[in-house]
Amino acid sequence: MANSPSGDSMTARVVRVLETFTVDRTMQTAAEVGRRAGLPSSTAHRIVDELVAAGLLDRDDEHRVSLGMRLWELALRGSRALRLRQAALPHMERVQATVREHTQLAVLEQDSALFLERLSHPDAGANITRVAGRLPLHASSSGLVLLAHADPELQERVLTRRLAAVSPETTTDAAALRRRMAEIRAAGFVVAPGSIEAVSTGVAVPVRDGDGAVIAALSVVLPREASPDVAIAALLQAARSIRSDLTSH
Ligand code: PHB
Repeated sequence: MANSPSGDSMTARVVRVLETFTVDRTMQTAAEVGRRAGLPSSTAHRIVDELVAAGLLDRDDEHRVSLGMRLWELALRGSRALRLRQAALPHMERVQATVREHTQLAVLEQDSALFLERLSHPDAGANITRVAGRLPLHASSSGLVLLAHADPELQERVLTRRLAAVSPETTTDAAALRRRMAEIRAAGFVVAPGSIEAVSTGVAVPVRDGDGAVIAALSVVLPREASPDVAIAALLQAARSIRSDLTSH
């Protein structure tokens, strides 16, 4: 693939363009894309035009671009994430009907918890998770479950980094986090009050595949004062059902 004078490949530049879109920044002009991707204006305009022509970006009447529906279609086609989400959905609905709070499914992706699905309830409380959004492994309940079961190399990488406080109650001490991970493995679930925001408690369990490997975390976000007992039981039951559905289909 042709390289630019700075030496990066065309693919690398396209990836940089796509990565300028975030959960909070969904529409941009080609000039903004170029600035954020660190590309010369002419290069950014050309790549954006080509991606629009291919349907990977959509352009509106005001010449702003967003990630295209075709990109979504290609990304989901045959993806493991979609299979997992489909297996999980009926069981998430049951959890959500019992607990009547937000219920979400997350996987480990590039050292964070990436959310594949979130079901809301009309009466549910605060919740910052979004589908296709991420939360730090050491702070969110889903992240803590994924981290506790991750391979040792990843655990060490996360534990030796500076652990940022998302809230005043986030565990930021590596030794404390290590103890917490052992507790999560022993208990089979985590209850994380105030770790993301003071008003809520995250409750999460691991989801395993047929071989017993942890492939996802299933969580609910409760108001801080609520008892987690019903949620823990509902999540454990759902995780068992998802595992059995994944092995029988
Ligand atoms: C959590 O998983 O711990 C969590 C997620 C979102 C929130 C609060 C807690 O808004």
